[in-house]
Amino acid sequence: MQEGCFIVLEGPNGVGKTTIINTVCDQLNFMHVSHVRTKEPTTSELGVYIRKNQNKYSKEVLACLVAANRYEHLQTVVTPGIQAGNIVLCDRYFPSSLVYQLMDGLELLFVEGLNQQILIPHLTIFLTAKEEVVKTRLRERDQLTRFERDQKKEIQLYQEAQALLENKGWNILSIDTDSQTVSAIAELIVQEIKKVINDH
Ligand code: TMP
Repeated sequence: MQEGCFIVLEGPNGVGKTTIINTVCDQLNFMHVSHVRTKEPTTSELGVYIRKNQNKYSKEVLACLVAANRYEHLQTVVTPGIQAGNIVLCDRYFPSSLVYQLMDGLELLFVEGLNQQILIPHLTIFLTAKEEVVKTRLRERDQLTRFERDQKKEIQLYQEAQALLENKGWNILSIDTDSQTVSAIAELIVQEIKKVINDH
């Protein structure tokens, strides 16, 4: 059986990631392409715990918890999914740690160290939007986490994370969500996924 691939979608809170991933999955379903949709923090006991309790912990503890959840995710979902020939589509991964743990005040080296043994995705897609657009979307949310209060910093750290990972040789695609419809963005992503599958 041919191996599947690991695709990561990233972007600031309020960029419209969930809607875009929903549409990508609809298109893959329509084409009968087998895929596994997943996210970090995950739906495991640890992942649910992190989502519920993230505001209780110091920056160091939260960084360790999300890294532990990432290794658990790789072991239990991502690697088995790839080996079974699926496209594993993941909402947030290491770039989120490069943004939110640095936003929390941690040193880059600390975060990189914790993530040294992770799997490099076949493709990482960065969704971008203007600060005003994400701010408007976040205004509609009831409660904001500690990471949803400084959109300017969040966007800047995403740009830095993208540059850092490009330098490390990650396969990266950046998509500006302001100038295209959700279905056009999803179509573009599906085309890129097909290229990755054909290339390996
Ligand atoms: P989400 O539901 O918008 O995906 O939120 C996930 C939260 O987890 C978000 O506040 C950021 C945080 N998080 C980290 O702090 N570090 C990480 O590496 C990941 C994946 C998430």
